[in-house]
Amino acid sequence: MRKWIKVAAAVLVVAAVAGCSKEDKNSKGLIGISMPSKTEARWVNDGNSIVDTLQKLGYSTDIQYAQYEVPTQLSQIENLLVKGVKGLIIGPIDGTTMTDVLKQAKAKGIKVISYDRLIRGSKDFDYYATFDNYQTGVLQGQSIVEALGLAQGKGPFNLEIFAGSTDDNNAHVVYAGVMAKLQPYIDSGKLVVRSGQVKLEQVATPNWDGALAQSRMDNILSAFYGNAHLDAVLAMNDQIAGGVVSSLRGVGYGQGGAAMPVVTGQDAEIPSVKAIMRGDQFSTVFKDTRALAQAASNMMDAALQGKPVAVNDTTSYDNGAMVVPTQLLTPVLVEKGSVQKALIDTGYYTADRLQ
Ligand code: BGC
Repeated sequence: MRKWIKVAAAVLVVAAVAGCSKEDKNSKGLIGISMPSKTEARWVNDGNSIVDTLQKLGYSTDIQYAQYEVPTQLSQIENLLVKGVKGLIIGPIDGTTMTDVLKQAKAKGIKVISYDRLIRGSKDFDYYATFDNYQTGVLQGQSIVEALGLAQGKGPFNLEIFAGSTDDNNAHVVYAGVMAKLQPYIDSGKLVVRSGQVKLEQVATPNWDGALAQSRMDNILSAFYGNAHLDAVLAMNDQIAGGVVSSLRGVGYGQGGAAMPVVTGQDAEIPSVKAIMRGDQFSTVFKDTRALAQAASNMMDAALQGKPVAVNDTTSYDNGAMVVPTQLLTPVLVEKGSVQKALIDTGYYTADRLQ
């Protein structure tokens, strides 16, 4: 009887696993996609585009979102291995946590692409597809330099910096690009950081969480800006920008005589694009998720078919275990005047979604 129960349970598990997978007998194979979270629109857009492009290339897909829980992401990937995927496209929450699961993938001969965020400390994967993160930071810094007229000698201005999550390699690379533009003005005194918080560890936002950015902004405003006006906020993505703008509005910025600071962003998420149209946020960096999904899908297809895989950077992304062959895409700065051209004319959003 016991034995029978065990067999029945095993059959049920196999059936459940098979039931979840969207393997189609005519497909070129099943590809597993692991995205960090559904809490940000950008990863949902990425996920939808990857599924779409892989299916057009003839693959079946199984997509999982981990809601910013590392153990969830690891067990989702292990499940994908059980389901017999031929390839994995992974946007890691914490790039350093993949070593064991990737060893298993490697042993099964599975092709793995690190998506948008770099997998660190492992050589058991194949390629990296991302936007040029350093350039993203340069665009954010440059947006502040230009809006304030710093290159024309204007200033001093007050600046605060809100970076991303330090467990995400991108936060480090974007920060380097940002500081390449802003550090000279901090050094010359034309940009003043009244909180004194400049180092990445001091300005980081765990999980790029807008609510955490909001409370840090609240604290900084009450401790350092009693009588002073904050002129610019380097917000490393749109989630963070949203939290910062709520905090600023809460103490009266954007109303009466208190002009909203120049607030940057990243991802061109709809609430931020609307904030740019209203004047609450100054800029964002558009990274066309359709293009990144297409690049990663093409790389996966080529790798699985034994064809040459397109990469354009074989030196920049050293993950501590290897220099990862990378395909870098170009980010685009978007301000109020370029929303139409960058986001609507390209078909990324329809005009009505931005109203
Ligand atoms: C991505 C950004 C995103 C951030 C938070 C980064 O790794 O490159 O586009 O805003 O994660 O999800």
